[in-house]
This record gives sequence, C-alpha cells and structure tokens, in this order.
Amino acid sequence: MRLAQCHNFHDFRTLAKKRVPGPIFDYIDGGADDETTQKRNSRAFDDCDLVPNVLTGVKDIDLSVTVMGQKLDMPVYCSPTALQRLFHHQGERAVAKAAEKFGTLFGVSSLGTVSMEEIAKEVSTPQVYQFYFHKDRGLNNAMMSRAKDAGIQVMMLTVDSITGGNRERDLRSGFSMPFRLTLGGLIQFAIKPMWGINYVTHESFKLPQLEGHVDMGNGASSIGDYFTNMLDPSMDWDDVAEMVKRWDGEFCLKGIMSVEDAKRAVDIGCTGIVISNHGGRQLDGSRSSFDQLAEIVEAVGDKIDILFDSGIQRGTHVLKALSLGAKAVGIGRGYLYPLAAAGQNGVERALGLMRAELERDMKLMGKTSIKELTVNNLRFR
Ligand code: FNR
Ligand code: LAC
Repeated sequence: MRLAQCHNFHDFRTLAKKRVPGPIFDYIDGGADDETTQKRNSRAFDDCDLVPNVLTGVKDIDLSVTVMGQKLDMPVYCSPTALQRLFHHQGERAVAKAAEKFGTLFGVSSLGTVSMEEIAKEVSTPQVYQFYFHKDRGLNNAMMSRAKDAGIQVMMLTVDSITGGNRERDLRSGFSMPFRLTLGGLIQFAIKPMWGINYVTHESFKLPQLEGHVDMGNGASSIGDYFTNMLDPSMDWDDVAEMVKRWDGEFCLKGIMSVEDAKRAVDIGCTGIVISNHGGRQLDGSRSSFDQLAEIVEAVGDKIDILFDSGIQRGTHVLKALSLGAKAVGIGRGYLYPLAAAGQNGVERALGLMRAELERDMKLMGKTSIKELTVNNLRFR
C-alpha cells in the first residue's frame, strides 16, 4: 500500500502499521485497559443520524470558525500529542507545517520532541501549547514564561492525566522513552530497518519542553513513570485558577467530561474547555466524549468556547459534533497514523481528505457555513 492509496482513517492506519515498529504503532493505536472507551468513542457517532436539508443553494462552502480568539480556515485541528519524532523523523515539524497549509490550529505537547520556540518561528498558524501540572512548581512557571516569550496563542492544560492510563500493549512491548524494550519489542524494531535508519541518522531524541528538568539520556522512562513521578496528583481547582490568572490570555482545560467541571472551568476564568477522554487512553469505561457533549453545551455553551476530541475518523463525525455546539474538533490518531505512514505528506493528505469530506458533507447537508449547523439536523436513535 502507498500513500496515494490511502483514502480514509483506516487506510492510514494500515500503512502506519507497515511503516513503524510494532511497539511504536501500538503506543499510537492503543488505549487503556480493554480499550472499551476507545472503541465506543467512534461508535457513539453511529447512534446519532444526520438529517439533511435540500435545495438550499450550496455553491460556496465556508468552513472557517473562530475559536478561543483564533480564526481557522477549517473546524478541525491537530490535538497535541507526545513524542512525534518517534513516529516519523520529521515529527512536530511535519504536523505544524501541514496544519499551516490548511490554516488550522495545532498543538505542541510538553512531551513534544521539537521545541515550541522553533515551531513558533517557522509556522504562522496559531499554536496551542499543551502542558501538564508538574510537582516542580518552578517547572510549571518556567513553562508558562517560555510559552509567553515564544508567542504561544493558547495554553491548554491537560487535566485527565493525573496518573498514567493502564496501556497494556505498552507494558507488553516495553515501550519507553527513548527505548527499553522487551525481547519481542526489539525484534519488532529489527524488522523495520527504514524506520531505524531514519531514527539514527536524524538528530538525537530530546524532550526540549522539559529540558533541564528531565534527563532522558540516563536510562529510559516510560510514559507511566513520567505521570507517576513528575506530575502532581494534588493539583486542584485553586492551583489551576492561579495558573489561569498568571497566564492572562486564552487558557483551556483539556479532558473535561462533566457539567460540574465545565461550570468550574467557567468560574475560574478559562476561555475554553476540550470535551475529551484522551482518545480512550486514560480512564477506560469512561463515557464517550460525544455522548457528553450535548449536556455540557447546554450548561455552559454560551459562556465558554467548547472544543471536542476523541473518536473522530470522518467528516460526518465532525459535522455531528459541530451541530451539537462544539466550536472546533480535534483529531489525534487521525493525523498520527498519516504522520507515521508518510511524514508531512501523510498529514497533508489526511487534512486534505478531511477538508474535502467536510465540503462534500456540508453540501449534502444543505449548509454553506458552519454556523448553520444546529441540533435540528440531528436525531438520536
Ligand atoms: C495523545 N494525546 C495527548 N494529549 C495530551 O494532552 N498530551 C499529550 O502529550 C498527548 N499524547 C498523545 C499521544 C498519542 C500517541 C495519542 C494517540 C494521543 C491525546 C490527544 O491529544 C487527543 O486527546 C486524542 O488523541 C483524541 O482522540 P483520537 O482522535 O485519537 O481518537
Ligand atoms: C499519552 C500521553 C502522553 O496519551 O498523553 O500517551
């Protein structure tokens, strides 16, 4: 299979599986425990049907939206994800450049492998900086100052990862940063030599957002260890209220799932929330984020910008979330498989296909702009 033969999410997944070593593919592909929430995330969209209108005149389609003060050419953005240079040697650079080409937002993770400063210099579209709340308050404050100095437009604090999710595929393969693999995991690397050549012939693995705070050179650390040892499980609403004040700009919480928490986010002055269960990678058995969207929009939709992620595979999934009141929709695996499959070309192809699907689906729905999408166009089974 080649990139030109990838026409949807599943095709990119198949190609990614061919291109990267098994432990890396499984890290992207997997979820927590039995992966029930991960599966449900996409299936939840099937319980909701679109009801189109016809004969409305749909020659020109405007896909632009404004969210947290940022004008985007399309309502889909690349949600921040960790370790992108492990998936493809171009890593975050590829994702940022592709997002720029489509005029959309992208996130850089605190576990990113290219610095937010470098990306901010090279790319003109708005960047979200995603961070975790560390035990080391000095590190938290330093990250916020760095992000301010780099000109980051939106801060995104992930609040659903107070401890690492139970990723059993990673336990089995020994997936860790940089690498400490089980024998089975090592064999998987040996049979993907192209990936290995690219990995060793490009700059060495780094986590520049955490520079000076985490030493990746000495031994390997798993994602689970990072969460357990470095993040502060005592983080509470007062801590976050202080950060929101200190940042004094667009600030959103990623991983809100309940109405109560959405209201508290409004109370402490956040300008956005992301309804998300982290792509089913944290609390398995958690409700799908799509199933939670309507009630959160009803409670706070007029007070705060609501973003949405988890489970998006299709343009129609995006239209359903937007119809329920999300202002923009994030994808994770939807651009990570393409990145792993073919770097920047892969991400561009995925975003291009997504834009084409959205345009086509908007026409078939009888809508010319995103604000015309309302709950009247949906029926739940
Ligand atoms: C993630 N996600 C994530 N979220 C975050 O806040 N910080 C991070 O560093 C990461 N890293 C990460 C790595 C990988 C491999 C994946 C798949 C996901 C979660 C991500 O931003 C997003 O919430 C989910 O991926 C959305 O679900 P879908 O689109 O993958 O179903
Ligand atoms: C993950 C973390 C890094 O989902 O957020 O793997």
